[in-house]
Amino acid sequence: MRLTVIGTGYLGAVHAACMADIGHEVLGVDTDAGKIAALAAGRAPFFEPGLPEILARNTEAGRLRFTTSLKEAADFADLHFVCVGTPQRPDSLAADLSHVEAVVDGLAPLLTRDSLIVGKSTVPVGTTRSLSRRVAARVRPGVEAQVAWNPEFLREGFAVQDTLRPDRLVVGTAAPHADQLLRSVYEPMLRAGVTYVGTDPATAELVKVAANSFLATKISFINAMAEVCDASGADVVTLADALGHDARIGRRFLSAGLGFGGGCLPKDIRAFLARAEELDVGEAVSFLRQIDRINDRQRRRTVDLARHLVGGTFAGRQVAVLGATFKPDSDDVRDSPALAVTAQIAAEGADVRVHDPEGIDNARTALPGPVYCTDVMAACRDAELVLHLTEWRQYRALDPAELAEVVRTPRVLDARNALDRTAWHAAGWHVRALGRPVHVPQPGQGDAFRVTVPQAFGATCTAPKP
Ligand code: UDX
Repeated sequence: MRLTVIGTGYLGAVHAACMADIGHEVLGVDTDAGKIAALAAGRAPFFEPGLPEILARNTEAGRLRFTTSLKEAADFADLHFVCVGTPQRPDSLAADLSHVEAVVDGLAPLLTRDSLIVGKSTVPVGTTRSLSRRVAARVRPGVEAQVAWNPEFLREGFAVQDTLRPDRLVVGTAAPHADQLLRSVYEPMLRAGVTYVGTDPATAELVKVAANSFLATKISFINAMAEVCDASGADVVTLADALGHDARIGRRFLSAGLGFGGGCLPKDIRAFLARAEELDVGEAVSFLRQIDRINDRQRRRTVDLARHLVGGTFAGRQVAVLGATFKPDSDDVRDSPALAVTAQIAAEGADVRVHDPEGIDNARTALPGPVYCTDVMAACRDAELVLHLTEWRQYRALDPAELAEVVRTPRVLDARNALDRTAWHAAGWHVRALGRPVHVPQPGQGDAFRVTVPQAFGATCTAPKP
């Protein structure tokens, strides 16, 4: 089938490449000529494992082309996927729909045949209905264009596999022929057993924001438990493991630490709050405000513990930061908890050296102050504290003994609870984490746990090992 993908950012570039990969003829459209030139040459404009390969394969095969022209898109196909961004508005919690509206306003008058416009972006419930009215008011006489919603659930770092083998496909439309058309688009996936949920547009829009709200709630729940663990000497990692054995709860998205960031979870829960208030059901989802607050608190708690570890002030202290992106396997630093912590400790006077395997360029643009290093050893040289802020595989594979040789003080704060703390400890490191008691062998006393009193991170007490 022929289709277009309008908006070739994160979501659109991956969707376009994957649709070509399952056999469709795809035209990707974007207003950014630089991005279009890179994509047309088979190059991914951002880091995403697996994407360069399918881009190259499908552009070479001629199934995937790119343009900046909406007119060319309208002439090319009757099926148009809209994948432009819906960022948080600068003046409120609500989603900024101006990019989606601009696409629809631009495309509708150019359509010469009956068409289907399928939104994939994350939007407030009710958007399909309002866009349908916009389209109807702008199409030429005799042309009919329907709008359907087919939210995307891909995760950065796993975008290609999530698009080709999604957990489910959700399509919301009031038009039976639109449903049929989308079933044909996704036919290879349906044949492979992927579940298809056909529903109304409002439900489809809500599935996406509800899913992200649920995931954010899971993360903030375990981070709230981490705070209770800090106050009581319990261990949040063991707690999460034990909770996760309950099949009704599950272990995924129960990793306590620095909390969630990125281009989706934070802005989606805020936009959901804003939309719920418009619908006069703000009270029903007001817990999301607390989810956001708990998440924010992890950043502050990490800074507080780090400050405590370097003696109460960052001024003149040398700190190594491992990880700048909002999560591993991505170069994305949007709303990155790692970068927020880095910014704060730099603002408090620390001499910060940051390493990240893929995110240095984006991090330097977002936060120009710190020194960025392409080598972990260089970032850690003479450091008085190592902050592990994004759990890249490379950091888990580090040899703590080798690293201990280059730092001034072997002291690490594992804000992602991902390092092998027994190995680090054995190599002479003082290892700290949020929500975990500290294993401190005391000469002559056997092993003991030093339990941190959370808010101030100032007081410590020693408790016998249980
Ligand atoms: C998310 C959703 O997972 C995806 O379905 C949606 O389409 C877009 O938003 P993404 O933003 O790529 O995807 O990241 P995700 O893997 O969900 O992680 C989000 C954040 O939560 C990251 O900052 C991650 O570090 C954090 N996280 C995740 C935790 O702090 N703890 C966990 O247990 C899991």
